[in-house]
Amino acid sequence: MSLKPESRAATGDLTFPAYNAPLPSTEPRMNASTDPLLPLSSIPTLPRLPVVASMPWLYHPEGFMARMLQLLEQHRDAGAIRVPLPTGHSPIFVGNVDLATDVLDEARFEKVLEGPLVHIRDFAGDGLFTAHSHEENWHRAHRILTPGFSSASIDRYYPAMVESLQALCAHWRRATGPVDVVLDMTRLTLDTISLAGFAHRFESFDRPTLHPFLQALARALQESIDALRRPPFLFPLFRATRARYRQDIATMFSLVDEVIQQRKQRPRADWPSDFLSLMLDAPDPGSGERLSDENIRYQILTFLIAGHETTAGLLAFALHQLALDPALLQRVRAEVDALGHGRMPSMKEVLGLDLTRRVLSETLRLWPTVPAITRAARADTSLAGRIRVPRGQPLGLLISAMHRDPTVWPDPSRFDPDRFLPGPTRARPAAAYKPFGVGKRACTGRHFALVEATLCLAVLVRDFELGPVPPLTLAPTVSPKPRGFFLRVTPRRGAT
Ligand code: HEM
Repeated sequence: MSLKPESRAATGDLTFPAYNAPLPSTEPRMNASTDPLLPLSSIPTLPRLPVVASMPWLYHPEGFMARMLQLLEQHRDAGAIRVPLPTGHSPIFVGNVDLATDVLDEARFEKVLEGPLVHIRDFAGDGLFTAHSHEENWHRAHRILTPGFSSASIDRYYPAMVESLQALCAHWRRATGPVDVVLDMTRLTLDTISLAGFAHRFESFDRPTLHPFLQALARALQESIDALRRPPFLFPLFRATRARYRQDIATMFSLVDEVIQQRKQRPRADWPSDFLSLMLDAPDPGSGERLSDENIRYQILTFLIAGHETTAGLLAFALHQLALDPALLQRVRAEVDALGHGRMPSMKEVLGLDLTRRVLSETLRLWPTVPAITRAARADTSLAGRIRVPRGQPLGLLISAMHRDPTVWPDPSRFDPDRFLPGPTRARPAAAYKPFGVGKRACTGRHFALVEATLCLAVLVRDFELGPVPPLTLAPTVSPKPRGFFLRVTPRRGAT
């Protein structure tokens, strides 16, 4: 079957063409032999023990996703693996570009809620991320909110990005010892999305620890993963954990409801031009209906969840890589230094930072901060013309494994931003690179994330010397992050 090459980057274009390239709509591929299609049970399956199912095979010090990546690399030829869980489910994970090309085909597969998303829906409800594709509230919110995230609208949020970055830079200038990079990137991205989205200031750099909202969110997200590995009959043993989970959800709801109420109490003429005003005010161009207060609560939580940890992880991985590779750091600095010192770059200047952007693209290839998504067949179909897939069958796509498929990424573990240079090396299947998902359920905030990350990475390497770091290991968190990443940062000469 022919796979469609990516389109090429236009300098200054806000989007990364690799994830934006339309996927070919593929007819199910024909099985060349006369054999019938193989059933799903032909996919390699981890051994299943009573009660614990395949748990003994799933341990990895860097977490479940790291183990899945390892298993899929061991089963590259099959391209997929089945994982019996203690809950009785046996999810299938797909990890090579050939099979992924079928699963990403919007005409034949669609996003479904599986795994942690089912639990995250407890607190993100029918917000954009955790809504079912058929729910009216998804269509309504998508129509109302997508224009607010278009590349043309991002300049509205640029001042919030700059303000939060200035707070981080001041914090780093005051540092007397190594800084906790993951914590600081989390503070930075949370402050940015809440300021840009809802004019709410968490002022995270004025606190010694994470805001209680974030602590509640982190615990609730962890529980959404832990609950997946728990056989149902063990739930009674986790009463205290479940009570804490409910308490954490109540903490999150109360902060968000307060933000909504405060906005409503202000005269309409004083409302800032942000996502919250859009949510409260804009009618759906389709139905004329507005979003309900309950749905707005879920959308705000969705933006806070989807919009900070992912970008924080991206920045932390990129900084780690640059601290490890002085030659690359020099190249990035040369690009950024050319903008001058002593002031924040304009958004136009940030959009022109080609190498900095390619460093971020390559970072998302090796460490996609949403490492997996789940899709299901709209009707009976097949994978690669050889495996029968019944209608409704969920398939997890391990984006991190697709991004390391050696058939399209030579020497896949090597960090090389020049893979994203325009030119013949860019001719690779569209399914080879999907850090922001696909189709109508692709990431709403990708332009926002990329502008924010490019600005922050550029200013941090321009204004600070980065001390040495040990090789990368991952924290076993829902969204992957470097583990124990402490960095000595000292202001560079000429920095503001
Ligand atoms: C590097 C940063 C980011 C990455 C890697 C990322 C990745 C993704 C991916 C892979 C999806 C699809 C999920 C699925 O199919 O189940 C997604 C959806 C989404 N993302 Fe992001 N994201 C990032 C930043 C952001 C930001 C900053 C925001 C908000 C400002 C955001 C808001 C959303 C929303 C609302 C959805 C759901 C879209 C829908 O289904 O209608 N993301 N993201």
